Order: sequence, then structure tokens, then C-alpha cells
Amino acid sequence: MSARDVKKSLLDVLDGETQKVPPVWLMRQAGRYLPEYREVRQKAGSVLGLCFSPALAAEVTLQPIRRFGLDAAILFSDILVVPHALGRKVEFVAGEGPKLDPIEQPVTIGAMEEELDQTILAPVYETIGRVKSDLPPEVTFLGFCGAPWTVATYMIAGEGTPDQAPARLFAYRHPEAFSALIDILVKASIDYLGRQIEAGVDAVQIFDTWAGVLPPSEFARWCIEPTRRIVNGVREKHPEAKIIGFPRGAGASLVRYADEVPVDGVGLDWMIDKTFARTQVQSRIPVQGNLDPLALVAGGASLDAGVDDVMAAFADGPFIFNLGHGILQQTPIEHVERMLKRVRGL
Ligand code: CP3
Repeated sequence: MSARDVKKSLLDVLDGETQKVPPVWLMRQAGRYLPEYREVRQKAGSVLGLCFSPALAAEVTLQPIRRFGLDAAILFSDILVVPHALGRKVEFVAGEGPKLDPIEQPVTIGAMEEELDQTILAPVYETIGRVKSDLPPEVTFLGFCGAPWTVATYMIAGEGTPDQAPARLFAYRHPEAFSALIDILVKASIDYLGRQIEAGVDAVQIFDTWAGVLPPSEFARWCIEPTRRIVNGVREKHPEAKIIGFPRGAGASLVRYADEVPVDGVGLDWMIDKTFARTQVQSRIPVQGNLDPLALVAGGASLDAGVDDVMAAFADGPFIFNLGHGILQQTPIEHVERMLKRVRGL
């Protein structure tokens, strides 16, 4: 047993325990599929406005916990608050996603701010305090940041791209400047996650949404190595910090990630072979995932079969039930309820 006063099943899994019923939460669980989110989101006006309004951000963080009784709450914020606090222009354009000032030349990186403007991020830490005081004690509170590679793909391209070609090209053409950008993001992420932990989150997740486009040597250089430095950097100040890594699309490289990045758990996307993930990854480290978000949209027999497959593959070991990526806007709420019942054997 751990020394914690209250049992938090998700933290126990990250300590390597197997639970009879796995803890469950959903990536992007606060979002537009919830009518109560849409109402608050409209009040806030913009995504960043919502991220930086502690009362509203705390409210949307708690909404999915109240509605579904999930085992973890994830701070409502966005991975792009980091470039914003580094002085880059960030906006969310309705229907189009994020827009940033793109980085086209190496000199732009040389001239970049290297320290986060903490006055910009102060409302995020205030949100954490508010959520913490309202959260049931058995619910794990997760903070997060984007991994440097994924954040850099948006900073270089200035927007989401289907194949992250602008960042990949930039990294091939200007490896030194790209490496300097990654270094800035590593340092900023250590600082940002450390402050989230000080403000009260129980664990943090590092989202590397676009890890899967990198060939193995670039994966090692731009995904494994920077994430390893973040984990070690956070633990210098917070040796007990619990950290989940999610290198989406890593495939077979997940074994190397699990061996070389000292995280407490790894997220699995829905594409990975489940036998491979059980025998090669879960044998090394607790896993989280990996229902196809579209099976949750479809519902019915496809959803039931998807849940059963995930449970059969992973529930006999240290495991957190989740989706293989964020919940989609068109997801019917009844399907989430059905999924939870099935996971919990109700
Ligand atoms: O999981 C949660 O509920 C916590 C909140 C959260 C958000 N973004 C809020 C948000 C988290 C963990 C993120 C992470 C994030 N943001 C990632 C990594 C994980 C992933 O899903 O891949 C990435 C790549 C981003 C960048 C980002 N933010 C994009 C590409 C978009 C636009 C796409 C979209 O869905 O509209 C956002 C906007 C955003 N961030 C929304 C939410 C709920 C939706 C916008 C809205 O409410 O209008």
C-alpha cells in the first residue's frame, strides 16, 4: 500500500498495481460533446479565454467528473499556452483550430524568449487550486503539457498540418536551430509541470500527439530524448512526480520509449497491436488506453466489442482504461455511459 491518505486507484496503477476494475478517464473529456461545456465555452468566448479564466476552467474540468464519476480529472488548458507564454502569438479560430505566427527562419528561434511569462500562466495554477478544493479525494487530478516535438510542429507550421511536414523539413534543414527550439521547450515544460505539481495536481501527462510521423532515429532525437530530459528535470525538484507519456503512433518504437524515458506509465493509441502492447510494453510499464474514439461514436455492438478487446488485452496487468486519442465532438453521451458500465462490470 502507498503512504497516501486516500486511495487513488490511478496512482496505484502508476505504482505498478493491478486493479480489479481499472481506473478510467478520457482524453479531452472536457469538450464540445458535453452541452454543459458548450455553455461555459460560449461564455468564455475563446479557448484561450477559457484556459485563463480560473472559475470557468475549474468548472469545465469538474463537469465530466460530476456527470460520469470518472477516476481522473484533467486540468482544462491547452498545450499551446506554452508557446503563448513564450511570447508567440496563439489564437484558436472557430472551425479551423489553432493559428500561430509560423517560424520560417532559424533567426526567429535565436531571438525567441527563453523563459515562460508566468504572469500569463498564473490563472492556470489558480484553476488547479480551485479544482483541487472541489475534487472528490479518490479522484486523481492530472496536469499536462505537450511534448516538445508536438508543440514545435504547431510553432513551426503556425497551424495543425496533416503530416507535420513543415517541422520535419525545418528539423532536417536547420537541425541546430530546431534543437535550440526543443531545448527552450524542454526547459519551459520542466518549469510548467513543476509549477502544476506545486499547485496541486497528483500526476501529469506529456502529450506527444505527432510522435508517429518520425522515423526511428528522429523519434529518438526529437521525442525520446527531450521527453527523458523533461521527466528527469521535473523529478530533480519533485522526486515523487508521477508522469504518463503518450507518444501517439510510436508503434514498435514504444518499446524503446518505455526503456529510455523513465515515465510511470505510457498511453497506447488505438492503432497499436494489442498482443504486442501487452507482451512488449505492459510487461515493462503500466499502460493506458486504447479504445478507438470512433468505436465510442458508433456505439452498440462495435463499442461493446471494442471495450471487451481492450479489457481482455490489458485488464490483467497494471492498466488505466482510456481512449486511444481524444474523445470526438460527435460522441453521444449515452455511449460514454454504456462504455463506463461495461468497463466497470455494471
Ligand atoms: O483533455 C481535456 O479535457 C483537457 C483539455 C485539453 C485541451 N487540449 C482543451 C481543448 C487538452 C489535454 C488538450 C491537449 C491538446 N491540445 C493536444 C494534445 C492532445 C490531442 O488531443 O492531440 C493538442 C494537439 C492540442 C492543440 C489543439 N487545441 C488543437 C489542435 C485544437 C483544435 C482542434 C479542436 O478540437 O477544435 C485545440 C482546441 C481545444 N483545446 C479544444 C479543447 C476542448 C476544442 C476547442 C473548443 O472548445 O472550441
